[in-house]
Amino acid sequence: MNILGINAVYHDTAAALLVDGKLVVAIEEERFNRIKHGKMPDVDNPHQFPERAIRFCLDYAGLTTEDIDHVGYSFDPELRRARFRAEWWPNPKDEEVFLLRLGQAREVADGIFGRQLRQKFHFVPHHLAHAASAYFPSGFDRAAILTVDGIGEAAGSTLAKGVGKEIEEIETFDFPHSIGFAWEVICGYLGFDIYDASKLMGLAAYGNPETFRGQFAQMIRVGDEDYSVDPEAMGFQSAKTSRLESLIGPPRYEDMAFERRHADIAAALQESTNEAIMALVRRLKRKVPFDKLCFAGGVALNCVTNELIKQAGGFSEIFIPYAPHDAGTAIGAAFAVHCAKAKNQPERGNSTPYLGPEFDRREILAAVKSAGFTPHISKNPARDAAGMLADGKIVAWFQGRMEFGPRALGNRSLLADPRRPDMRNILNQKVKHREDFRPFAPSVLAEHADQWFEVGAHARSHEFMLFACGVKPDRKDRIPAVLHQDGTARLQLVQRDSNPRYHELISCFHELTGVPLVVNTSFNDSEPIVCTPADAIVTFRKSGIDALFMGEVYLTAED
Ligand SMILES: [Fe+2]
Repeated sequence: MNILGINAVYHDTAAALLVDGKLVVAIEEERFNRIKHGKMPDVDNPHQFPERAIRFCLDYAGLTTEDIDHVGYSFDPELRRARFRAEWWPNPKDEEVFLLRLGQAREVADGIFGRQLRQKFHFVPHHLAHAASAYFPSGFDRAAILTVDGIGEAAGSTLAKGVGKEIEEIETFDFPHSIGFAWEVICGYLGFDIYDASKLMGLAAYGNPETFRGQFAQMIRVGDEDYSVDPEAMGFQSAKTSRLESLIGPPRYEDMAFERRHADIAAALQESTNEAIMALVRRLKRKVPFDKLCFAGGVALNCVTNELIKQAGGFSEIFIPYAPHDAGTAIGAAFAVHCAKAKNQPERGNSTPYLGPEFDRREILAAVKSAGFTPHISKNPARDAAGMLADGKIVAWFQGRMEFGPRALGNRSLLADPRRPDMRNILNQKVKHREDFRPFAPSVLAEHADQWFEVGAHARSHEFMLFACGVKPDRKDRIPAVLHQDGTARLQLVQRDSNPRYHELISCFHELTGVPLVVNTSFNDSEPIVCTPADAIVTFRKSGIDALFMGEVYLTAED
């Protein structure tokens, strides 16, 4: 049975394919159309499908549209009608347009698949899709499941439980009680794109949460086991009036300098978020007293909060997928449809993020030649790249299947030497052009990580850069390029089995330097992460990257 999952309703549009319950391919539309998040969420476009991602999934698996048995779409218009109130929009008429477009999703799918799908097209509740995207890859037999995002059909947070192949919703916190929207509002208020939560998270480490603690307590009220968001205090667009500026002062615009106050605001939001999520985790633990926790939704990308959940110790293991944000709902929708339609269980415990395209040597060489570069061939790319890193070079590492999700995890990565105090500045000046306050993450050999970082019990989600771990005090001086302001590092554990080529490269760097980690940042400069060899060469050419390795083929800046 072939099931295609689609996320198209808001942003981070994506497609994923399950073949007989096994996830074989998944990709985000942004990697093809080169528009960040694939498309902007708009009342008028939930029927805009990730057509190139869908096409790629079919081609990868050698299938045609005829071969697809079922299609899952990670949003449910019926649930929306039942639970969402039009007055939650700034303009209530927007809901009519939104529902109209959602109603057209089925026709759009019929057009893409060249036939009337009828009962083969399924709307899947958004938070069920998030939950499934975490629960089935976790491999847990049963788990408490928490989803926290901006909004699904109506809910900002959902508590659920998974047992066998069944996921059951326990309780929701509906709009306006949305932590995700609070982050969007404060991102905009501080002059970022509203989806730049990771920038806000980086800035928070420089601030003092006490300064605006009282004000944020009015915006996000947190109890022992619940939270609520005041839409007027928070300045949600749906509110009749906004108290945001009277509470925390005038906004920062994009071209204004950062002040201490801005970092303090970010820190207060991070603190409120931590408390709200911990309250939900306590509530969930009481209602679903299982030993394992799955966490999904865009808010689960917050590695500071994730570390707190882990340290609180209520669960023996926490699984957060490599794509907890909306792109992951394409995977979850496919799993949910499989559970409804297939007799067998879907595959459990497969958590590899390497689900995208890969390119063979012939394709790589063709791209290099058409770009006018002279290719070199390395007999040992891991060793040669590690040597360059130890010499202070920035190396682009393009290998195997592309990652699904917002983090580059060693297959479409830019790498550098973590020992150099100036490496953050060099990376920012030559390639990344990011704000100075944003940290760079380390990729660490799993077997050596405990000597350098306060990892605690290793979890599979440590492979996805989802926890901010402390750095051992006696190691801090040796790896300044990956040390954040608060003494933590958003590390990726690298297991040999999960990514042998990347593990080998870091092992070579370890042999050369005695340091079992490298700086890893996504291979891009402001645009979506590179997908093809041609994308990689474009970014290599326009930036200050010193060398680009694609398989065994490599280019250097001197060429
Ligand atoms: Fe979502």
